[in-house]
Amino acid sequence: MSEFPIILGIESSCDDTASAVIRNNKILSNVIANQKVHQSYGGVVPELASRAHQQNIVPVVNEAIKQAGISKNEISAIAYTRGPGLMGSLLVGSSFAKSLSSALEIPLIEVNHMQGHILAHFIEDANENPPEFPFLCLTVSGGHTQIVQVNDFFEMKVLGETIDDAAGEAFDKAGKILGLDYPSGPIIDKLAKEGNPEKFKFTKPKVDEFNFSFSGLKTAILYFIQKEVKENPNFIEENLKDLCASIQKTIVDILMEKIIAAAEKTGIKQIAIAGGVSANSEIRNRLSELEISGNYKTFVPKFEYTTDNAAMIAMVGQLKFERNLFDELTSKSVSKYSL
Ligand code: KG4
Ligand code: ZN
Repeated sequence: MSEFPIILGIESSCDDTASAVIRNNKILSNVIANQKVHQSYGGVVPELASRAHQQNIVPVVNEAIKQAGISKNEISAIAYTRGPGLMGSLLVGSSFAKSLSSALEIPLIEVNHMQGHILAHFIEDANENPPEFPFLCLTVSGGHTQIVQVNDFFEMKVLGETIDDAAGEAFDKAGKILGLDYPSGPIIDKLAKEGNPEKFKFTKPKVDEFNFSFSGLKTAILYFIQKEVKENPNFIEENLKDLCASIQKTIVDILMEKIIAAAEKTGIKQIAIAGGVSANSEIRNRLSELEISGNYKTFVPKFEYTTDNAAMIAMVGQLKFERNLFDELTSKSVSKYSL
């Protein structure tokens, strides 16, 4: 037996089926099956996601165990995503996790997906050094946008969140208007590199304190494009890079203004970022500018731990295992799950 527990993590909250193995903060394997089936629909189709999870879960978990170089009997506990997420997707992961824990007669650990994104910072190779408590985390993905004050591993407070669309959704919906493929975030990021971010101005929403709103921005972009295309049918093609740069700047400005305001109000000087949108190069530039200013320390984890993954679920599983925080086979998946 290993002197440290070995935890198998399972993640299936949205459209990625993932499994990972962790021992002593070190990821031994991190396997993800992305579902391409949604691309042609311009967004995740819940029924298709659930079906694809059912097809993927067994091979993905087997591969994670194989790549980790362990046998099933060495696993100390199974950690799985209980929520938030799509119910049909969550159920596939939770049923599988429960069956496996029961067959292997080992504990089951439930994980909040949003805690997973944040605590991914504590995976050994996620950062040069992990953040120290307390820190602020900006979690930005296709489904979530939150500013969280993290006082300890399991002591977190949501300071603000989106009241409508998520930041990733704002990128994806803007991309759709421009005729780009889904998900558009990475495409906008790439095109923006050669565009002028000051060319087009979009008004930023007025939302109280640390909350966000992105649906107004989407409508503003839509109306603007419709008006311009009426006058010049080639407007999008002729201005694509500038449009991408301007839209990206607007979204990143909104995110940065809020996280800096939260840092000023709380006096917390450590800022971490999590979720798929943290791959965005403009956010990364702004965070490193903040760090260079000398007033803040910023934490951007390795890319594979920012998008949906099971390494972060296994990490939380390990932290809960160390604290004897176990789950019951009877616990139910939840589509909404606050921190
Ligand atoms: O965390 P994630 O992989 O999945 C969840 O939504 O949970 O995040 C995916 C989101 C998509 O909306 C995608 O467009 C966005 O992250 N995204 C980006 C970039 N890479 C991914 N947005 C802006 N710039 C990027 N480089
Ligand atoms: Zn996520």
